[in-house]
Amino acid sequence: MFNWGFIGSGTICKNVSKQLLKNKKHKISCVWSRTYEHANAFAKSISAKTYKTINELLNDKTLDAIYIGTPHSSHFKYAKMALERGIPVLLEKAFTLSYENTLKLLEIAKKNNTYICEAMWTWFSPVALTVKEWFSANKIGKPLTMRSNFCVPTFFRKKERIFNKLYGGGSLLDLGIYPIAYAYNLFGYPDDIKASAKMKNGVDLDCKITLTYNSGLICELRSSINRLGSCSTTIIGENGKIKVPAPMHCSRKAFLKGKENIKYHDSYPFGLYENEFNLVEEEIKQEKKESSYVPFSSTLNVMKIIEEIKKQIGLSYDEANSL
Ligand SMILES: NC(=O)c1ccc[n+]([C@@H]2O[C@H](COP(=O)([O-])OP(=O)(O)OC[C@H]3O[C@@H](n4cnc5c(N)ncnc54)[C@H](OP(=O)(O)O)[C@@H]3O)[C@@H](O)[C@H]2O)c1
Repeated sequence: MFNWGFIGSGTICKNVSKQLLKNKKHKISCVWSRTYEHANAFAKSISAKTYKTINELLNDKTLDAIYIGTPHSSHFKYAKMALERGIPVLLEKAFTLSYENTLKLLEIAKKNNTYICEAMWTWFSPVALTVKEWFSANKIGKPLTMRSNFCVPTFFRKKERIFNKLYGGGSLLDLGIYPIAYAYNLFGYPDDIKASAKMKNGVDLDCKITLTYNSGLICELRSSINRLGSCSTTIIGENGKIKVPAPMHCSRKAFLKGKENIKYHDSYPFGLYENEFNLVEEEIKQEKKESSYVPFSSTLNVMKIIEEIKKQIGLSYDEANSL
């Protein structure tokens, strides 16, 4: 049995726990969250223990790893505390609020010889890994254009963390990070980055990004928390096309049209969070310190692209003074 400690008790922690606990080999042994009553209600629902302070949770010697599912603004602080105690960490995206702090956190992990991985679940998923294989096998020839959007209006849900700058809100860190990571993981670091955004109260509501490569490839990406739009990814190459239907970041299907036509549906029996946790558990048991699914270079370079976009659209966060 592998013992997870959960930091946070909101949407993602609940959704992850529902999938994980369907497979009896996973265990969430304890929970800590900002509000004790929320942590306790969540912990009770999954038969876990509640800790009153994060230090108590991090001092639990039975833990094998922790999962951090709190707002972006608190990731650096909690992940640092765990790494300094040598506890492996699976940390929700976006890793931190800045490239600089992402770099710092990875240095802390290396110094403490402790595993940390960004919970970018897309890149553990059979569909994204299959799409990557299609590229390696040159199935659509030279890539020419990519369009990838993640536009989900969320204003009616009144979810404070998504709109509040002090929580690291905005469409870029919440949704835009997925199309960016998709482009980076397929094509590498772009030669040019252009971005524009509609801003409100210091966060981006709607962000348009163009990544250009010297090969001629152009990736047009968009994220939005105030407009309904597509959530799919299409890539066109000289000899064919790949479509990843919505939701692009966790799709269970991908279609290849070219010399070969393939309709790929993954056959994984559980949900994709469960898949991610399984693979992370395996890596931690193998005493790896860096994930091969989401290597440090991916987390860092995606944050570097985001840093350039932040500069262009006038988005800045103050990690030291956030919530
Ligand atoms: N992988 C995915 O598919 C996916 C999907 C959604 C979100 N996410 C990521 O998951 C993270 C959380 O998102 P969410 O939608 O679950 O947020 P949420 O529903 O607002 O839940 C956030 C949780 O964190 C706790 N919290 C808030 N501020 C805190 C602080 N300063 N210190 C400690 N705990 C704090 C809240 O505490 P209390 O309730 O205890 O006060 C709540 O339990 C974000 O990084 C987001 O990008 C990932």
